[in-house]
Amino acid sequence: MSYSLLIKNCGQLLTMKGRSSVDLGLIEDAFLACEGNKIKAVGRMEDLGKFKSLVTKKTKVIDAQGNVVMPGLIDCHTHLVFAGNRANEFKMKLEGKSYLDILEAGGGILSTVRATRKASKAQLLKNAGGHLSEMLKMGITTIEAKSGYGLDMDTEIKILEVLRELKKLQPVKIVSTFLGAHTVPAEFKDRADEYLEVLMKKVLPAVKKLATFVDIFCEKKAFSLEQSRKYLSYAKKLGFKIKIHGEQINNLGACVMAAKLGAVSVDHADRLSKRDIQELAKSSAVVVLLPLVPLFLREDVFADGRALIDGGCKVAVSTDFNPGSAPCKNLFLAMTLACLKMGLKTEEALRAVTINAAAALDLSKQVGSLEKGKIADILITKVKNYQEIPYWMGENPVARVILEGK
Ligand code: NIG
Ligand code: FE
Repeated sequence: MSYSLLIKNCGQLLTMKGRSSVDLGLIEDAFLACEGNKIKAVGRMEDLGKFKSLVTKKTKVIDAQGNVVMPGLIDCHTHLVFAGNRANEFKMKLEGKSYLDILEAGGGILSTVRATRKASKAQLLKNAGGHLSEMLKMGITTIEAKSGYGLDMDTEIKILEVLRELKKLQPVKIVSTFLGAHTVPAEFKDRADEYLEVLMKKVLPAVKKLATFVDIFCEKKAFSLEQSRKYLSYAKKLGFKIKIHGEQINNLGACVMAAKLGAVSVDHADRLSKRDIQELAKSSAVVVLLPLVPLFLREDVFADGRALIDGGCKVAVSTDFNPGSAPCKNLFLAMTLACLKMGLKTEEALRAVTINAAAALDLSKQVGSLEKGKIADILITKVKNYQEIPYWMGENPVARVILEGK
């Protein structure tokens, strides 16, 4: 046997091994070795001699030149597949209209639904593939992607099939989520219960092979707490893992409800009470923070990440990339904002986009840390100190991306 890849001279190797919220499992002056798509060894450069026989002519050697090396980023909440854009709403927003006002007026999510229904599969594939390749350049090696801009059986399936195609066509790993319950489509206006009934009886069984997770937008002008509870319970019975969009604009009790049902993650969580945080800490749900959203919606309430972590919750950070509330693919920028507006420490923000984001997708055994046996998704950065990663606001610190050992 010999190593297929050796990365040497890692100034700071952030393995993310370790359990506390600030433990980066940092090894200074380190190496990392892979065989095929798996990590085989990590250690200090001074101990590399012990592995000498495994470094052969076949081993590709990369010199990290003293820079930070870390796991590939995991963007655990995105709405990747959609047509068009909503630049027109940007203008409305600057004139003072709120997100829910725009949705109520038939815009917002519903305007992207109209565009996505009209778009061909090839067009959607091209758009989503383009976004994904930009994300990869910014270090994202695993992504969760939701449907939810179809809101009818055919278009929802079209979106999930685009994701299935993308899995074959490009190297970023994709976890698919069915978000048919993103909002009530125009054809079912004021008949949300009937729409959910259709989703439960017809659509969920039809997308079983296409999606791992089921998600719902629990919010005024979308779905109520009781509707969401009934829907997610049903999805769980069918064998889907569950997530929720909760407490984004109003507190309806969504995150706690979903966590009690066994949700793998509860997302947004901008408006939780102290009591909610205590309840969430008792559950195994990861709380996914999406700081680009309140920024872009001009909402001044950001999730209290500090209170969540101090209260014992596991916290992840994601872009929520979508055409309405976060048209931004920069997960490094989301990290910076999580620090500045949600009270995370740099170490917590780094864990939030790697090992904790893996947990939000139920993938922590495969990705999210640099440990023997895990998939070799690795970033070689341009910085010497990990504190610089959220510091260089909006910049891309990635020099090189290794995906599955390549
Ligand atoms: O996570 N809040 C609901 N869904 C998305 C936004 C979707 C849209 O506006 O197109 C979100 O913010
Ligand atoms: Fe979202």
